[in-house]
Amino acid sequence: MIPTLEWTSEGVNFLDQTKLPLEETYVLATSYEEVATVIRDMIVRGAPAIGVSAAMGVAIGIERSKATTVEALTAEVDVICGVLAATRPTAVNLFWGIGRIRDLYNRLVAGGADLAMIKKAVVEEARLMYDEDIAACKQMGAFGAELMPQHGTVLTHCNAGALATCGYGSALGVIRAAIERGHDIDVFADETRPFLQGARLTAWELMKDNIKTTVLCDNMAASLMQKGRIQAVIVGADRIAANGDVANKIGTYGVSILAKEHGLPFYVAAPWSTIDVATLTGEEIPIEQRAAMEVTHSNGKQMTPDGVGIENPAFDVTPARYVTAIITERGILRAPYGDSIRAMAEMVQPALV
Ligand code: MRU
Repeated sequence: MIPTLEWTSEGVNFLDQTKLPLEETYVLATSYEEVATVIRDMIVRGAPAIGVSAAMGVAIGIERSKATTVEALTAEVDVICGVLAATRPTAVNLFWGIGRIRDLYNRLVAGGADLAMIKKAVVEEARLMYDEDIAACKQMGAFGAELMPQHGTVLTHCNAGALATCGYGSALGVIRAAIERGHDIDVFADETRPFLQGARLTAWELMKDNIKTTVLCDNMAASLMQKGRIQAVIVGADRIAANGDVANKIGTYGVSILAKEHGLPFYVAAPWSTIDVATLTGEEIPIEQRAAMEVTHSNGKQMTPDGVGIENPAFDVTPARYVTAIITERGILRAPYGDSIRAMAEMVQPALV
C-alpha cells in the first residue's frame, strides 16, 4: 500500500506529493509547525489525509511540548490547534481531525490525567485515526463496488486515492474494490488543472496497481461522454453539507452537469468525517483561493501575460441534485440527502478497527 503518511518515532513522515510522479521522496515533520507547513504546501493533500495529518500534528505538538503543568500545556494546545486550523479552509476533515484530539485532550484533563498519560493517549488516538481511515476506505470500497459498471470506463476528477487518504482511497478505493471483485474497468483521469492531481497523482498510483489509466485534459470529458466512452463518474469530496451538496476539487461541478446531460451516474465516495451537518447547504462552504502562480505558471514557466487577472478557486460545489449516490463507510446515501444523512447519523455504528 502506498505510504502517504506515517507516524514514526522521529516524527510524521510524509510522501512529498508535490514531487510526484517524478520523485518518490519523503518529508519528515518533527513539530506541529512543520506538519502545518506540509499541509499548507500540499506535500500532503486530499481531505481524509489532511484530517489525519492535522490530528497527528496536534498529537506531536502535545507529545513534544516542554510544558511542565497541564495548565501551561492547555494554553499551548490552543495555539497548536489554531495554527493547524489555519492551513486550509475547505476540507472539513481538517477540523474534524483537530477536534477529535482536542476533545480527547479536554476529557483527559477533566478526568485528572497527568502529562505523561495525556501525551501517550493523544498519540494513540491519532494512530487509531490512521487505521480507521484505511478501514473506512476499504468499507467504502465494499459498499461502492457494486455501483461500478461490470465493463467499461470510469471517469474521475482530482485524486481521491491512496494518496488523498491514509491508504486505498475513497473514489479510487471503490474502483480498486470493483476490480478486485472481477469488474473489467479502466479509468479516465481528468488532469485537474491547475495543480494536476489527476495527471500526476491519480495516474501514478493507479499505474502502480496496474489499473489501466488514461489521462485527459479537463476540457475533453464532454466529448468523450458524447461518444459513449465513459460509463460512470466517481469523485471524492472535501465537505458534504447537510443537504448533500458536495464541495470537491474545482471542475467537479462541471463534470456533474456533463454526467447528468449524458445520463451517466455521478457518484461521490467520502468517509463520514467529510459530512458536515453543521453546514446546511453548499453555499456556506468556505472555498479556498490559491496563489495566482498555480495558474500563471506551468512547471516554472510563465504561461500568461504580465498583469492579466487570474482566478484560482481550489474547489467548487456540486448541488445534491446532480449526485446519484454518496458512498460512505456507513453505507450508501441516496436523495433526499437531508433525510438519508440525518437517518444514518443517528444509527449506532460498529467500530471499524
Ligand atoms: O486540493 P486538494 O488536492 O487537497 O484537493 C483534493 C480533492 O479535492 C479531493 O478530491 C478530495 O479531497 C477527496 S480525497 C479522498
